[in-house]
Amino acid sequence: MIRIGIAGLGFMGMVHFLNYQRTRGAKVTAIATPESERRAGDWRAIKGNFGPPGEKMDLSGIETYESVDEMIGSAKLDAVDITLPPNLHADAAIKATKAGKHVFCEKPIAMTIADGRKMVRAAEKSGRQLLVGHVLPFFPEYAWALKVIRSGKYGEVIGGAFRRVISDPEWLPNYWQADKVGGPMLDLHIHDAHFIRLVFGRPIALSTIGRTHNDLPEFWHTQFRFESGCTVEATSGTIDQQGRPFDHGFEIHLEDATLLFEFAVIGDEGHYLCPPTILDRSGKAKRPKLDGGDPMDAFAAELKEVVRSFAAEEPSEVLGCQLALDAVEMCHAQSRSLATNKQVRL
Ligand SMILES: NC(=O)c1ccc[n+]([C@@H]2O[C@H](COP(=O)([O-])OP(=O)(O)OC[C@H]3O[C@@H](n4cnc5c(N)ncnc54)[C@H](O)[C@@H]3O)[C@@H](O)[C@H]2O)c1
Repeated sequence: MIRIGIAGLGFMGMVHFLNYQRTRGAKVTAIATPESERRAGDWRAIKGNFGPPGEKMDLSGIETYESVDEMIGSAKLDAVDITLPPNLHADAAIKATKAGKHVFCEKPIAMTIADGRKMVRAAEKSGRQLLVGHVLPFFPEYAWALKVIRSGKYGEVIGGAFRRVISDPEWLPNYWQADKVGGPMLDLHIHDAHFIRLVFGRPIALSTIGRTHNDLPEFWHTQFRFESGCTVEATSGTIDQQGRPFDHGFEIHLEDATLLFEFAVIGDEGHYLCPPTILDRSGKAKRPKLDGGDPMDAFAAELKEVVRSFAAEEPSEVLGCQLALDAVEMCHAQSRSLATNKQVRL
């Protein structure tokens, strides 16, 4: 049984806690968070954009700490699950791996590439795993695309377009602070940057145009170029209107097929604007039936992979820290390209 300590009990801390209850081979045995009422089990103030609302919880048998350092130093843990704000990931991850714990850290791995590299070095030195919570490949549509691509049935990937646009999340503190959350580039688009890196490899260059808010990219279009000669585009960012809080999708080109999908929440309702569809040489549009429409299921699948990886001492590929680091590097390069109006080579 892997004993897990959760660092930072906000929205994601709660999502992870609830999903560990569905995960075999792991148990949350400690929680560190500054809010005294959450340590006492009153989670009613926790709010997010999916999953169940925060409730009163029975935390008997779980050690609670006010500080993450105290939890790392005192609790008997095999792993620390970091769901702190992004600017606090590096310090907590380095301390946890130095103390001999595996780490599962929410995305982005860190605010800067330098901090991310320090985390990777600390994990390597201690011989512990550092995994990063890039959950998108566990969402059914993206898992389906990955499976189809990797089957090799339709040849190589030759290009694609990705889209992720949300309404300005006015309720999230520090969202537009470059040193704390980093706006939609590091908070939102990083999901697609990671998926693009996973499917197409490391880009060799990119160009981004778009508009800014508080000197951070607000809404943009990026073209990524790859060694193979293929190009991928991504549109992402925020809009001010609250009537369409979420929109994501892709069009992925393979030599012998095209994969399509787009989902949006418009008003209060989620709809497929284009259900997962495969266009192949038959000339038909085929629609696979996919399981699991609840985002909580994607997190359950992600945590299952975390626990498998820790238990097998065989690091997960999809959640590995090098991909996560490359995703941060891509996002920073995109911001630089937008700011300078120039192509950036990676
Ligand atoms: N994968 C996803 O889809 C997804 C979705 C939302 C958030 N996230 C990520 O999860 C992480 C947390 O985001 P969130 O929305 O849960 O934030 P949040 O603000 O709801 O929660 C952060 C928690 O950390 C606590 N905290 C702050 N400083 C602390 C400290 N010094 N010591 C201990 N605890 C401290 C806060 O009090 C709070 O309880 C971020 O990295 C974010 O990018 C990922």
